[in-house]
Amino acid sequence: PTALPGTQQSPIPPIIHFPNLLMLLGIESSCDDTAAAVLEGETVRSSVVSSQADLHEAYGGVVPELASRNHQRLIVPVVQKALSEAGAEPDDLDAVAVTVGPGLPGSLLVGLSFGKAFARSLDVPLVGVNHLEGHLYSVDIEAPRPPRPYLCLIVSGGHTELVLVEEDFQHTVLGRTRDDAAGEAFDKVAQLFGLGYPGGPEIDERAQRGDPSFHDFPRSRLDGFDFSFSGLKTSVLYHLRDFSDAEREQLFADHRDDLCASFQAAVVDVLVDAVRRAADETGAAHVAVVGGVAANRELRTRVETAGSEDGFAVHVPDFRYCMDNAAMIATAGRLRLDAGFTAPPTVDIDSGLGLSGEG
Ligand code: KG4
Ligand code: ZN
Repeated sequence: PTALPGTQQSPIPPIIHFPNLLMLLGIESSCDDTAAAVLEGETVRSSVVSSQADLHEAYGGVVPELASRNHQRLIVPVVQKALSEAGAEPDDLDAVAVTVGPGLPGSLLVGLSFGKAFARSLDVPLVGVNHLEGHLYSVDIEAPRPPRPYLCLIVSGGHTELVLVEEDFQHTVLGRTRDDAAGEAFDKVAQLFGLGYPGGPEIDERAQRGDPSFHDFPRSRLDGFDFSFSGLKTSVLYHLRDFSDAEREQLFADHRDDLCASFQAAVVDVLVDAVRRAADETGAAHVAVVGGVAANRELRTRVETAGSEDGFAVHVPDFRYCMDNAAMIATAGRLRLDAGFTAPPTVDIDSGLGLSGEG
């Protein structure tokens, strides 16, 4: 296999393949979660995630400098916890997989520096993983795994991409957001609604009790499969601006759940519409929804319904593997090792790394 652009990996001679790879440590530190996981063969032995969300809540978003300092503080205890929960010693490890991008440079550096040093000290191979490939293959963590090809919607705080996975490491990006990511839209609108950070889970919760037809927010549909969520966010802002402070407080008191349901319906309509059109156009029989926003109940239900109406099977990872985690990094790393890739000792982070196969 050839090295993917930006990942700085080189094929290694077949003699060092890892068909019977036993223990693999995965490390993830691209944003504000410090995570480590141990994979034994294809089985997750442990998956530890230390979220810094509480720390960043006061700022309404992730503060890069704080994130990297906390990764520094957390990386060793998180790896130790993952090893001990797996009942493994460092010497049991056969390889280390670590996220090299995309993400915050100062955060990525902590995971990669640790991973490099750890792999070196154990004299085992290191494999660099694209965080987005981690999300793509998060549906492989647990059975039933989707056969290739499958259509994958990545929806998280940082990304919104619709990807056709033809084979492992062979993807076509059909569309992506031109402005805000879907999760970012949830987080920013939650702030406008006076809710905490990250806002996705609370909007999801409140929307369960709200009326989605309370207000008709715009659904933007671009050419092809690209997305745009900034117009929707602005429309929420303008809607709320029409009220005086006292009226807005009253509106929130009476209808905050209805506003949440109406906003969520607009996002979910746009996402599900794109998935249906893409499944139809590509003839994909399997559709995966991954990333933090895949935890959204309305999105899960609506994609399931679309699947049974249109005839495609739907794969959504377990909740804990939707959010950023290291089990998905270890899983993508195992696939990479099986395909013959390892990272050279000079491997560096690539904060702007994308998926190969731009459509
Ligand atoms: O994948 P993730 O943990 O981190 C990134 O790679 O960004 O995703 C976090 C994002 C946040 O924007 C959060 O608000 C959103 O996922 N999220 C949700 C839900 N749970 C998390 N959005 C909507 N509904 C949810 N239930
Ligand atoms: Zn992510």
